[in-house]
Amino acid sequence: MQLRGKVALVTGAAQGLGKGFSEAMLNRGAKVALVDMNESMGRETEKELSVKYGYDNVVFLRCDVTNKDQLESVFRRTVEEFGTLDIVVNNAGVSKRSHWELILEVNLMETGPVYSAAKHGVVGLSRSLGLGPHLLQRGVRVCALCPTQTDTDIHPARLQRDPEMQKMADEHWRLVDSEGGLIKISQVVDGFLQLVEDDSKNGAVMRVTLQRGVDYQPYGRGGEGVPYTRRAARSKLRNTEQVSDFFIPAWKMFRS
Ligand SMILES: NC(=O)c1ccc[n+]([C@@H]2O[C@H](COP(=O)([O-])OP(=O)(O)OC[C@H]3O[C@@H](n4cnc5c(N)ncnc54)[C@H](O)[C@@H]3O)[C@@H](O)[C@H]2O)c1
Repeated sequence: MQLRGKVALVTGAAQGLGKGFSEAMLNRGAKVALVDMNESMGRETEKELSVKYGYDNVVFLRCDVTNKDQLESVFRRTVEEFGTLDIVVNNAGVSKRSHWELILEVNLMETGPVYSAAKHGVVGLSRSLGLGPHLLQRGVRVCALCPTQTDTDIHPARLQRDPEMQKMADEHWRLVDSEGGLIKISQVVDGFLQLVEDDSKNGAVMRVTLQRGVDYQPYGRGGEGVPYTRRAARSKLRNTEQVSDFFIPAWKMFRS
């Protein structure tokens, strides 16, 4: 898919990866609705990107994605603003971790059943939507992008005031350091552009890691997904793939 002239909606776009994805698409000539619950940061990003890429190409829409009415409203308002919608980037994630989230993360990290289940869920949903005949027939692609620990504000500060929080932050950073540290947003953005621009990628699960760079989670036949053609949709009806395997977070929907 050529990005020039396309319209994208990006959740969690005020900062971090969402901002990186938004800027990359603007840079390729797309128009972007920046959706975020953080109004002040969102407005700041809207201003910064509007100055760079044109006021007609960027809009900030405040929304908490956990609120169904707000979410429906930003889809409607994006179409009102730009006339259509081609790409949805479902990226929003918790940034400042609360005490209990950090506790859960750190305590579950070793065995990680909940963590792992959540990640399987997102990937399973993306593959199921992407490879199922329903969306294939409508020309909608769905892919998952799974970066390793990336250099954004989502990570807890290294120094904490509360000793208990400090202990947990130390555990977090020990884990990050043991994996070789953080990767750059730009490395994840490179992978993102590949997923968006390559129409043969559908139901694909891309990983971006320090060790291997950009690659795809293999799932046997069709590991990089299948093109979204009516023929593929019919064959999927005959050969239902088993959805298995791992990991997380930002999953994307692309419309042809
Ligand atoms: N940074 C990493 O190491 C990493 C690794 C893998 C996956 N991810 C995932 O990538 C996504 C982006 O993470 P990031 O590192 O850029 O985080 P970030 O904290 O830098 O940015 C997240 C953005 O999402 C927004 N947000 C959070 N909850 C929201 C909600 N309910 N409604 C609307 N906006 C909301 C925040 O305001 C913030 O602007 C997240 O889903 C995260 O889980 C991040």
